[in-house]
Amino acid sequence: MAGMADIRNIVILTGAGVSAESGIDTFRSEGGLWEQHRVEDVATPEGFARDPDLVLRFYDMRREAIQTKQPNAAHDALAKLDEAWNGELLIVTQNVDDLHERAGAERVLHMHGTHLNAWCTACDVRSPWTGTLIERPPCPACDSRALRPDVVWFGEMPYQMEEIYGALRQADLFVSIGTSGAVYPAAGLVRDARELGLQTLELNLEPSQGSRWFASSRHGPATQIVPEWVEEILS
Ligand code: OAD
Repeated sequence: MAGMADIRNIVILTGAGVSAESGIDTFRSEGGLWEQHRVEDVATPEGFARDPDLVLRFYDMRREAIQTKQPNAAHDALAKLDEAWNGELLIVTQNVDDLHERAGAERVLHMHGTHLNAWCTACDVRSPWTGTLIERPPCPACDSRALRPDVVWFGEMPYQMEEIYGALRQADLFVSIGTSGAVYPAAGLVRDARELGLQTLELNLEPSQGSRWFASSRHGPATQIVPEWVEEILS
């Protein structure tokens, strides 16, 4: 990449592709989650109102599954970069798993929420959660039986957008890893980055819907191309 020596501040966007090799299904691949389930049923406020049991069971299963998975070499490399990088660095993940954190990354923001919180719709408090919600357990803060997954559904606003745009305004490089570029506003961040004059790099298994917006792209499995890129930028 040209001008890598000039890079001080970095924003990294990650998606399901970074966790795929840990054994967590992506959404839009063949056999992915959105082929097995209708988005409208399990990932919208309307679907939850219509059939809360179906939705709670779906997220209970996923919450249980991610706790059996381990970070892979891509999470490890990004955690290493987070630790070693002297400038600002922010990992913005669309993933609701905690594999970046378990690999050791500290500067991580979950724009689509996390499986490991329960959100009380009565008192608005979010509590760490590893168990199930299907049996309508009481909220640890207010005792109401009104907990839902703390996951952003279609039609809801992603979290911490102001912080994300703030970090982008200070950054020199935007890197997108393992995301299809199908879901906004995450998919639009590359265009915001370009308008702000950032260098842009895509690391993905294959060209994504958004590839043409990136100044450079590298294709291959995340466990291979992410560690390679991290070694390069740190050297
Ligand atoms: P997708 O499933 O849409 O895209 C995953 C991307 O990762 C694809 O471009 C794959 O080619 C790529 N990929 C797959 N395996 C890979 C590997 N081993 N190494 C590198 N890349 C790989 O997942 P996201 O883009 O994360 O939102 O999806 C975005 C949002 O759509 C999700 O956060 C979720 C979903 O609906 C909500 O639920 C709100």
